[in-house]
Amino acid sequence: MAGRYPDAWVDEVLARADIVDIVSPYVKLKRAGRNYTGLCPFHNEKTPSFSVNRESNVYHCFGCKAGGNVAQFVMEMEKLTFPEALRNIAKQLNIPEPVQTFDPREEQERSQRERLFDLNREAALFYHNNLYAPTGKHVLDYLHKRGIDDSMVRRFGLGASSDEWSTLRDFLQDKGYTAEEMAAAGLVHIKEGHSYDVFRGRAMFPIIDLYGRTVGFGGRAMGDTQPKYLNTQETKVFNKRLGVYGANFLRKQRDLKRLILVEGYMDVLALAQHGIQGAVATLGTALTAEQARLLKRLAPEVWVAYDGDEAGQMATMRALDILQKEMIPARVLRFPSGLDPDDLLRRDGREAFEAISPMGANHFRLLRLKNGYDTGSEEGNSAFSREACNLIAGVSSPVEREDLLRWLEAETGYPREVLAEQVRLTLPKKADGVGTDGRSAASFRRRSLHAAAPEDADEAEKTLLALLATGRLPQDMVRLDDFEATLTQGLGQALLNGRKPAQILSEAEDEAMRSLASEVFSRIGDTGIDLTMPAAEECLRTLRGKKVRQRIADISRDVDRLSGEDKRKALEEIMQLRQTLNSLMLSQREGKDVSG
Ligand code: UTP
Ligand code: MN
Repeated sequence: MAGRYPDAWVDEVLARADIVDIVSPYVKLKRAGRNYTGLCPFHNEKTPSFSVNRESNVYHCFGCKAGGNVAQFVMEMEKLTFPEALRNIAKQLNIPEPVQTFDPREEQERSQRERLFDLNREAALFYHNNLYAPTGKHVLDYLHKRGIDDSMVRRFGLGASSDEWSTLRDFLQDKGYTAEEMAAAGLVHIKEGHSYDVFRGRAMFPIIDLYGRTVGFGGRAMGDTQPKYLNTQETKVFNKRLGVYGANFLRKQRDLKRLILVEGYMDVLALAQHGIQGAVATLGTALTAEQARLLKRLAPEVWVAYDGDEAGQMATMRALDILQKEMIPARVLRFPSGLDPDDLLRRDGREAFEAISPMGANHFRLLRLKNGYDTGSEEGNSAFSREACNLIAGVSSPVEREDLLRWLEAETGYPREVLAEQVRLTLPKKADGVGTDGRSAASFRRRSLHAAAPEDADEAEKTLLALLATGRLPQDMVRLDDFEATLTQGLGQALLNGRKPAQILSEAEDEAMRSLASEVFSRIGDTGIDLTMPAAEECLRTLRGKKVRQRIADISRDVDRLSGEDKRKALEEIMQLRQTLNSLMLSQREGKDVSG
């Protein structure tokens, strides 16, 4: 494959291409202020939430959160790689292709990976063909017996590894691969000069990544051999913490409403077999943040459908926490103890599965919490009620809080008003933030950059980032610690370092960052230069004010427990903080005068 394009050329292509021209052939755009809006090409919708911003040269969908720069738009629409998309755009603009720079080490690394993908694909084909040979017949029978028919076998590329020691090795050797390469792919062990197949006598599940590349395998034992499932060890192209099984079918399915997250390979297959879309499985590990972010790219919501046993329910709690941290709305499908989705589907069929109504994440948490108390006793019941109110106090949606309170009333016998009062008394924990984020392009248009100070810190951070991205704020006005969340801080850092929006988007390591960046950059445009400063000042007041208030609250909480010199010091600090707060708020009124 080719080498790397010089940064200057990449920057030129990104800068000269006009996002409106690039998008227009695909999406009918209507002008709305400095932005253009239209129906999102990446998900099904009837009212436009797709927005294109000429000034920052980015697109962002407020519905499905897709977003990026010109090259990324062409990548997604035409299913191209980044260099291919750049070439495509350069051609449209008559920008000549530059001589590519070669980095021999990078080149070698890339061709090694390519070769591992090819090797894995060959192995998958080998296993698949083996399923229909006499040596694989018992595996095929096994799959049939578990309700998997031939169309699913083909769809998932299932296969069989033989009981022999080296059939795969011999096959790959004939194809020109060395034993070292097979070992690097995790398919062959080399021991004292001898090499033999890692997977033997198993039903084989090729693990295929988002881009259709075979990266590894799962193999299920026939009979009682341990381990029941054997996965490819970590290789240059496979890390089980990064991917999920089943993702390859979902990348192009932008209108998927929810994913069903299951534990195992067979669950994914069973769901597909019964015509239920959108199942993915983690590969024998607890859900990781990386996997959660991948899920976020595939659908707007995740339903966790782990096994009905205690281990599955505990894993569900952990998965919910990870999903919440990544701001992914989640629900839970619960199965009778001892059953997993595959068992239920085989026993009771699709209707029974679809009759299970997904439970809200917080409802599930409350149920789990209840398990830890003897609610039959008065003491246990009241302790549970207090803890439950604690949890409810952390829920940001008032409607959801109300629903949970009503449930708790029925559950504990305490009147709703009493429980609501208990919630009020509980110091508000950090809000969960889930589901507060799905604004449409229409509501976004109403929120121009110089609108009154956003009360909500999350909004203030995003607005401040947009203002920073205009490049019109004085140096040192904004500090890195004005941003609290990891993501906004990361974007703030890039902007403070002088990176341009298009560059930041190209470099964004993950989907969450790219989505945040494109959202933020789509806000650029409507601000007159004279209003940038006051708008930024308002954001800073919100953010810095919030921190000061927080600190005052923290000290006030402890102050009663202190005495003597400590107490005096604490009170003094509170006074000082109040003064800081006053001057922050004072500058607010002055700020308002200036901007009229
Ligand atoms: P389960 O043992 O629950 O799998 O493990 P399952 O699908 O119910 O198994 P069968 O085929 O129906 O009996 C769930 C997942 O955990 C991983 C695999 O990814 C499996 O699909 N696992 C399980 C392993 O990696 N190794 C093991 O030994 C067991
Ligand atoms: Mn099972």
